[in-house]
Amino acid sequence: METEKQPEVTSDRSRSEVELIPVYIMGKQYMVPPTLTIMKAMEYAGYTLVRGVGCRGGFCGACATAYRVLGDPKLYFGLACQTVVQPDMYLAQIPFFPAQRSVYDIAQLEPTATTLFTIYPEVLRCLGCGACTKACPQEIDVRTYMAAGMRGDVARMADLSFDCIMCGLCAARCPAEESQYNIAILARRLYGRYLAPRSEHLQERLAEIEAGKFDAELEELKGLNKDELTARYKARDIEPK
Ligand code: FES
Repeated sequence: METEKQPEVTSDRSRSEVELIPVYIMGKQYMVPPTLTIMKAMEYAGYTLVRGVGCRGGFCGACATAYRVLGDPKLYFGLACQTVVQPDMYLAQIPFFPAQRSVYDIAQLEPTATTLFTIYPEVLRCLGCGACTKACPQEIDVRTYMAAGMRGDVARMADLSFDCIMCGLCAARCPAEESQYNIAILARRLYGRYLAPRSEHLQERLAEIEAGKFDAELEELKGLNKDELTARYKARDIEPK
């Protein structure tokens, strides 16, 4: 994260009309508009984010943040691109937290407890303390999916961890030094490859594509100009709402 001089707020009329609030970045106070996310507040304060930023939409998990609020002993966690600032926030970005990540060939595995325990033996070390669940900005019950992993229940672990965006805050807080998110993505990969029900419609459509059923239609589309394509798009069959 690099810094520049904080912008002169009085030089911008729209900025001067907003009552600014104090936040602390790396311990230094900045006055920022109260409607900004943590990420935008940092940029407003003059920082250029070169790590700890990605999609800006709450999907990539790059912007894990820990913060406290003055007078409140609780440590809070969130995504910098989603969490709105509040007065007297003390902010710190966690762009990367080192965690154990195993290498494996998913095609060579079986969706079993033995696979989980062999690739990530530390899954059995989980204390069930719940610090991971409290840290998760996605409100995932990490403790419960880790318990499923300890039972070797790949499908349950995959299901409960489905919304994980791999921000790493669970691993940062774990007293048993687990890398929960890496174990969970193994469970989801095993589930997706071996356990998830297969769609018969998809198989049928793939066979149709391979048999060339849509080749002529595709060739025709490739010959259309932008206006013709737009008209065709607007006239398409749409499923009823
Ligand atoms: S930048 Fe991707 S989740 Fe925040």
